[in-house]
Amino acid sequence: MIKDDPFFWFRENRLAIPGVTREHVFMHISDTHIEVVDENSTQEDIDKVNYQIELWKKYKGKFATEAGEPYGEPQTILNVEALDKQMALAEELNPEALLLTGDNLDYMHAAGAKYFAKKLADYSGKYICVPGNHEDAACEGCWEPGVRVYDFEGFRFVAVDDSRKTVSREDLDALKAICAEGVPIVILCHVPFSTPYCKEEMSKLISYFYFDENSEDPNAREFIELCVANDAIKGVLCGHVHSYHAVEYAPGKPQIIGSQGMAGAVHIFTVC
Ligand SMILES: [Fe+2]
Repeated sequence: MIKDDPFFWFRENRLAIPGVTREHVFMHISDTHIEVVDENSTQEDIDKVNYQIELWKKYKGKFATEAGEPYGEPQTILNVEALDKQMALAEELNPEALLLTGDNLDYMHAAGAKYFAKKLADYSGKYICVPGNHEDAACEGCWEPGVRVYDFEGFRFVAVDDSRKTVSREDLDALKAICAEGVPIVILCHVPFSTPYCKEEMSKLISYFYFDENSEDPNAREFIELCVANDAIKGVLCGHVHSYHAVEYAPGKPQIIGSQGMAGAVHIFTVC
């Protein structure tokens, strides 16, 4: 069983949504940061990949040890090998969908995008990807730009691009229209936000890792306000921080920050 591979470590959360009649289990991973070379890679591409591999050897361990998360020999594998393991785990666990909350690629590069698109195409289940701050708004075969709705029994995931610590006017308007339909929503995005309700926990992180209600960007403030005040939005799943956190950003509304998938972090999210 691949789930017993010492590479993996797990966190679990449950979210009860009125009207949902049974358990729906999802596998949530974030920040796999793959870098890949293939037969079309130039020497410059290869040098860049090797440079990034060395960089992450240092930093993924640093993130994990500072957060008190598992980090030993099994977690030192290449990021692309980590993605392979995560995809194999998804096949074994067979979640209702695999949720990937950004920084799937370490940076936009043709070999990486092609590799990731093939992994997703070969995956036998449903998946939902959002872009991270290391990525573009679209990646062919992996994710599309804009707000996307994925319906399940009595609730929906809504993918939102907040990778630049803001949400576009067009996307905000689309999200508001989706909220008005009244179906319970869990937002999938990359960058977490802080509110006065979760400030104590979030302020332990450096400000690079989140945005908050004092953002100078009006759309960022509007997005947070919508997530807090709109009854349709029940919670948020995201990444970006490279360590695991589960906070309530408003009463009864969880924001779950998945840790670095490249170091074995897996979040099992059950809606019931
Ligand atoms: Fe990241």
